[in-house]
Amino acid sequence: MGNQRHSGRVVVVTGAASGIGRATATRFAAEGARVVGCDVDTEGLAATLGIIQESGQQAQIVTGDVAAQSDIDRIVAALPGGRIDVLANVAGTMDYFLPVDEMDDATWDRVMGVNLTGVMRLCRAVLPAMRDAGHGAIVNVASIGALTGSTAGTAYVTSKHGLIGLTRSIAYLYAEDGIRCNAVCPGGVETNIGRTATPAVSWAYRRIEKAFATQVRIAQPDEIAALISWLSGDEASNVNGAVVTADGGWSA
Ligand SMILES: NC(=O)c1ccc[n+]([C@@H]2O[C@H](COP(=O)([O-])OP(=O)(O)OC[C@H]3O[C@@H](n4cnc5c(N)ncnc54)[C@H](O)[C@@H]3O)[C@@H](O)[C@H]2O)c1
Repeated sequence: MGNQRHSGRVVVVTGAASGIGRATATRFAAEGARVVGCDVDTEGLAATLGIIQESGQQAQIVTGDVAAQSDIDRIVAALPGGRIDVLANVAGTMDYFLPVDEMDDATWDRVMGVNLTGVMRLCRAVLPAMRDAGHGAIVNVASIGALTGSTAGTAYVTSKHGLIGLTRSIAYLYAEDGIRCNAVCPGGVETNIGRTATPAVSWAYRRIEKAFATQVRIAQPDEIAALISWLSGDEASNVNGAVVTADGGWSA
């Protein structure tokens, strides 16, 4: 049966169709949680549900875009009994490694919408229920790109730096409500994010590649999911506003 640290809890996981989000949804389900998995990718979500069901657990899935308020409303409407114990904001998107002077507004708005504004909106939507309950845990998946400017384009780096600010603001303002909010900063992880990571400007990517060359190892998604689960659990009861690097020593 394994660790049942999230037994009975309602856990929302965004980006649950792939990579770190899928690993997080399946881990929480295995640890006893009632998972509500969300993603824009309906097929991938169904595959995640299949993995959870094959292991003998149940989950709910909601197809939705975290950048759209109407979809966030549907995610919140799907919460069993309106209850939420944990929110894992995992969904994220890349920016073609664009530098500022090559930035188009559509890329900027899309990346900020998914990686930052969507996270704020989902937090905004669930915090009232967490405050009423007197407890809750939020984990935001940032990136090593939240700590340095060298590993992605400007929109991604800016969105992930902003996510650290959002994390710390929530951690401080809601601590007295029994709510904790932490961020995880992975380095390279073997996922499908490369599909949205095609370099568009060769001179900028050549400079970014220099930072990639110092990477120590590529992690598996479950290594990040394990950290998200721990940060959401009671063993991390005094961990609030933390920015936890999980990059195998890359930034060290
Ligand atoms: N893989 C890495 O090397 C790495 C490194 C650092 C940080 N991250 C972060 O980890 C998180 C998860 O990414 P991953 O590596 O698992 O990539 P992934 O592409 O495998 O999974 C990301 C998921 O997010 C979903 N998604 C994208 N836009 C969405 C939207 N608007 N609404 C709902 N879902 C949406 C995608 O459909 C996909 O299923 C992201 O926030 C990413 O920035 C990844």
